[in-house]
This record gives sequence, structure tokens and C-alpha cells, in this order.
Amino acid sequence: MRMKMRNRQRKPSASCWNGGGRCSLPVIIWGLVGCIIVIHLCSLVRYKDTGAAHVGFGRRTVFRELEEVEEESFQIPPPRGKRSPRAVKRRGPRKQPTAVDEFLDESSDLRPFFFPDRRSAIGPTKEGNDSMYFCPARIWLDTEGNPIQAHGGGILFDEKRETYYWYGENKDGETYHAHKQGAARVDVIGVSCYSSKDLWTWKYEGIALPGEETNVTHDLHRSNVLERPKVLYNDRTGQYIMWMHVDDVNYTKASVGVAVANSPTGPFEYLYSKRPHGFESRDMTVFKDDDGKAYLVYSSEDNSELHIGPLTDDYLDVTRFMRRILVGQHREAPALFKHESTYYMITSDCTGWAPNRALVHAAESIMGPWETMGTPCVGGNKIFRMTTFFSQGTFVLPLPGLPGSYIFMADRWNPSELRDSRYVWLPLTIGGVADEPLEYNFGFPLWSRVSIYWHRRWRLPEGWRTAYT
Ligand code: GAL
Repeated sequence: MRMKMRNRQRKPSASCWNGGGRCSLPVIIWGLVGCIIVIHLCSLVRYKDTGAAHVGFGRRTVFRELEEVEEESFQIPPPRGKRSPRAVKRRGPRKQPTAVDEFLDESSDLRPFFFPDRRSAIGPTKEGNDSMYFCPARIWLDTEGNPIQAHGGGILFDEKRETYYWYGENKDGETYHAHKQGAARVDVIGVSCYSSKDLWTWKYEGIALPGEETNVTHDLHRSNVLERPKVLYNDRTGQYIMWMHVDDVNYTKASVGVAVANSPTGPFEYLYSKRPHGFESRDMTVFKDDDGKAYLVYSSEDNSELHIGPLTDDYLDVTRFMRRILVGQHREAPALFKHESTYYMITSDCTGWAPNRALVHAAESIMGPWETMGTPCVGGNKIFRMTTFFSQGTFVLPLPGLPGSYIFMADRWNPSELRDSRYVWLPLTIGGVADEPLEYNFGFPLWSRVSIYWHRRWRLPEGWRTAYT
């Protein structure tokens, strides 16, 4: 039997003749391997320096302008207030502050750079040439001329009304610390709802789910915490279901809350809270798949891992199925989306209101396994990329007319004045090869790259609502 096999391998059919030069099967295989290595190396070299992804293949030209790499620079001011020679002897010279120190310092000279004042606000009530331009971190006004209050939020596109609804935390109250060591906070005011046809002009629809004023035992009593609300539409029941993180002032309740409404603008009726699958749940999101099945994703086990599980058909509860994902990676602020048949998720590190580096994860099946692919941020400068442009993700909005193109929505938190936290919306595209290869695939990236491009000012391409070919 073995003899026969060997003989067969020697037959001329296993090799080819080309202009008289003989090329055997191993040569072809090694040639192919060589080509793959060269392509792989080229792609790595192109990404290494700038975090930039100049990928050309099959890109929609209409979004290409937004994939230009825009640089950003700022100078960190020298440490203020010199130490006396005696203090220098005792404690050494003052340390150069980091960019994040400056960002968090209310009295920093860089304050207007991170939080531009009202003069540069954008919105439909302001004159000027900023109309339809997204300007990350500049104050964004609604149609009544008030700064938009929709932090840690998400967007629902209502097909019947052909309208976008933006839900988020209304933080328009005083910022204070409930305890010396506690995080800065604002009392629960409720979940704001804004509507828009163009994603830039937002009309305030009011508080869709209000906080509770009097009943101190209520989950949404103003002394508690209500964060990261997201709304899904259930095609079977025709209801709008809101999921949110509810907590006590010390973040020990660690639960999800559920509310329901018959209209996208509410009023939402608060139903209950629970620890999903019996586990702590802090930062969370919900995601509706193409087949109508919805999922809850939440940070658990002291934020050391995420859990994911399907919701019941009415979206009012979780089922008993749950998978632990990104175990030991300490990620939060999950934002999940899908392109073609791949699921992607952007998460942040766990540093409270301080900005940190976003990471992208990908999976073939929503229940995992999920692979971590590196940072999606492109442009700005290294510090911008390492801090997710000084913001923390909250949602990724698909642009159905531009498959593979999305809006990345993030919050630039202002811990000293939370109501003045800003929105960082940037174009996100999928394409090219992932720049941080995965461990088990011998260094060959399997997933497409997810890129979020920094722009000081950008707008959606003309006709973004209609399908491109
Ligand atoms: C962040 C979280 C926010 C909020 C904040 C409080 O880590 O993403 O939603 O909970 O901590 O410090």
C-alpha cells in the first residue's frame, strides 16, 4: 500500500511544465507561502508607525475622505509652582504631568483644548459654516439651543418613523462626591431622548425615563446610579425596551434595569432590576442581531470579564444561557456591532471617568470565542490614540447606506463638571488586515481591521442614507 502511494507521488501529474522549466508541487506551495509572508509583512510595515490604515482594496470612495489621517498636537505645560530647594531635597523635583493629568486638571492651561467653550458650540441654532459637521468635544446644541444631555448613550433607528432616537444619561445636575474616595457623580435625573432625521439636528423629546424623587427604596431614586441606557425595538411585541446599568451610590448593587414603552419617546415604565444570571453587572450594552435575537453584554466579576447572553424573545429578561468572554482582560463600556457575518466589539479599560485605550474584539459567533485585535484608533497623535481621543466608547451606529461604515460614539467625560461632558463621534470603517495578529494563527491576521479616524471636524458623505454599489 505504502509503495503504491510513493509511486503515485512520482507521477508527472503532481508537477507542471512551464516553458520547459519544471516546477514541483512543493515549489508552488512554498511560492504561495512566500507571497503570503510578503503581503503580511507589507501590511505590518504600513500600519506600524502612525496607527494609520491606508487600505485601498474595495473601499467605498465616498468614505475615503474620512479615512485621511489627521494629526493633532499639543504641548504639555511645564509643572506649575516650583519647589523650594529644601522640598526638592526631600521630595525631588516636581514630576512632569502626563497628558491625562492635564486633562483631569480643571485649572490646566489645556482646558480649552479639551473642553472648548460655548463660543465654538455647534448646532442648528448657531449661525456659521459648521452646519452638518460633527466636531468632537465641542458643545453640541439641540434644536432649542441647549447643550445635548445624552451621555453614555445609544441610538435606535425607528424604521416606521424613519427617525433616529438618541437615548442617554441626563447629567444636568450638580457634580459632587458622595464620599471622599467615591467617584464624582450627579443625581439620577433620568434618560433623555432626542430625535433626528439626519443625525446632526437633534430635537429634545424630553426625559423618556425619569429618576425617582421621593421613594428612597426605588432603583432610580436620585441618590442612586443610572448609566448607559440602550433601547431596542421588539418586532414581535411592537414595544421599545430599555436596558440600563442601575446601581447604588457605591456601585455595589451592580445590576441591570429594564423599562418598556409603546413609543420611542416614552414614557418608559420601569419594570425591575436584577443581577443577570446571578452575576454582578456594571457597564453594559444590548445588541439586536439580524435574525431579531437580542443579547445583553455586561462587565462582571469586579469588571475582570464580560458576560454575554441572549435575551428572551420579548427582550424583557435574560435567558439562562451565558458565556464568559474576555476573561481576565478587565474591559468595560462594551459597544457591539456586526459587519457581514463577523461580530465586533469595542471596549475600554477600567479607569472610571479617566480616558484610556480602547480595544477591538472580534468573533465569528456572538457567544464567542472573542479575540482581541488591538486599538482601533487612527490619527490624532500617540496620546490621542492611547486615550481613545480622550474619550470612552458607548455605542457604534451602523450606516445602512454605507455597508462597512459606522459612527463610533464616545463620551469625553468631564469629572469635575459631569454635565459638561462632551461627545466624540468619529467615522469607523472595517477593512484591511488587523494590525495585531492573534496568538494562535501563526501571525497571520484573520480578521479585518476596525479603524476609528480622528477628525477635528467631519461630516457624513452626501447621500449616506442611500445604498452605494
Ligand atoms: C466608568 C464607567 C462609567 C461610569 C464611571 C464612574 O468606568 O464606564 O459608565 O460608571 O466609571 O466612575
